[in-house]
Amino acid sequence: MKELAESCTSRRSFLRFLAGSPLLSLVGVPSCTSRNSSGGGGDSGTSDLHDLGQLVSSPEDAINVFDFEAVARNTIPPAHFGYMATGVDDDATLRANRAGFGRLHLRPRRLVDVTSVDMSVELFGERWESPIVLAPAGSQRAFHPEGEAAVARAARSKGHLQLLSTVTTTSVEDVTEARGAPVWYQLYPTTRWAVTQALLRRAESAGCPVVVLTVDLPVGSNRETAERWARIDGRDCASCHAAAGDFAGYVRRKPMFDGLDLSGLTGLDTPGLTWDFVRRLKDNTNMLVVVKGIVTREDAARCLQHGADGIIVSNHGGRAEESGRATIRSLPEVVEAVAGQIPVLVDGGFRRGNDILKAMALGATAICIGRPYLWGLGAFGQPGVEAVLDILRAETELAMRLAGTPSIGAIDRSSVVRA
Ligand code: GLV
Repeated sequence: MKELAESCTSRRSFLRFLAGSPLLSLVGVPSCTSRNSSGGGGDSGTSDLHDLGQLVSSPEDAINVFDFEAVARNTIPPAHFGYMATGVDDDATLRANRAGFGRLHLRPRRLVDVTSVDMSVELFGERWESPIVLAPAGSQRAFHPEGEAAVARAARSKGHLQLLSTVTTTSVEDVTEARGAPVWYQLYPTTRWAVTQALLRRAESAGCPVVVLTVDLPVGSNRETAERWARIDGRDCASCHAAAGDFAGYVRRKPMFDGLDLSGLTGLDTPGLTWDFVRRLKDNTNMLVVVKGIVTREDAARCLQHGADGIIVSNHGGRAEESGRATIRSLPEVVEAVAGQIPVLVDGGFRRGNDILKAMALGATAICIGRPYLWGLGAFGQPGVEAVLDILRAETELAMRLAGTPSIGAIDRSSVVRA
């Protein structure tokens, strides 16, 4: 290994070489999230081709969303890629999210007219051409200089709903302009109500119709994979990143916090948050309140009791608690508890049209994707995000045709069976 390193002209080109090479596993860095974390590459065999250096050079050449991951591993700086790719502890929940889809089989119906397919869904009275929603993900300019704005332009050109993170690196106003329509605003409340209120007011003024309260990360989480990737990043992190506990420094690149009095805040942790907060939020905003991070029927019932307008079944992409349980496994109990009273969205491990079909069969109103569009962003910017969305829509349409379910309404529990 040492000889190889010395023969490379720079540390970065060496890392790039490693990132595209089976040797990567030898240096103790996760070899490929397709295989180890996302799980899809191992099934399709595509990661072997990636390991042989078959990286797509343009979005149009991509065969599936994993092609973007392979490219993004080279284009995104290692520490930032690791931040995106990481799960927690052993990354078991991250893998479970993917593996959960394999434990559900499809029950396709024959001789149904599938000449035309309608995959549109309705969310709070608004019609969307597909159930594919862009999940909130922080710091997108760490993956591409145009960050959230590029994602917004892609969402606009392809007609998808976009959810914007509290820790966005592009302001809600600029994202709304790039999207050409309001986005949903994801909220990490702080421990200071005045700051939380200011975030809400700003999202409201930007026209956001929905606030998505994330409740699955009250404290930090143990992201070892992120740490390992960071250790192979030779750049000087201190020139961009603040020291631990320096909240003002942390949000220097997070425009939603511009101009706010942040004294006394050390982070976004809210360990004291309880169900009262959902009601408080309802009482203090004209936005609809969707609670993100619900994985049990008990908490789904509490969402209803506290006036939530919607739920996102989520384990934070396997980056919060290491429950080991896939969100696709949690979905049915949440759907059952909600009994159609409010929409139930779900995220976690969606990489294929078939995954989307399975979630719709279990009663999801819509599904959110995270890492796949970030791979597209990191690999090729806006065109990469657009291509990821095109691929997932095309796969979903094909899956619906092959299942004999030409509309979302035609998909139901009988469309799937436990493996
Ligand atoms: C933030 O939401 C993260 O998962 O890092």
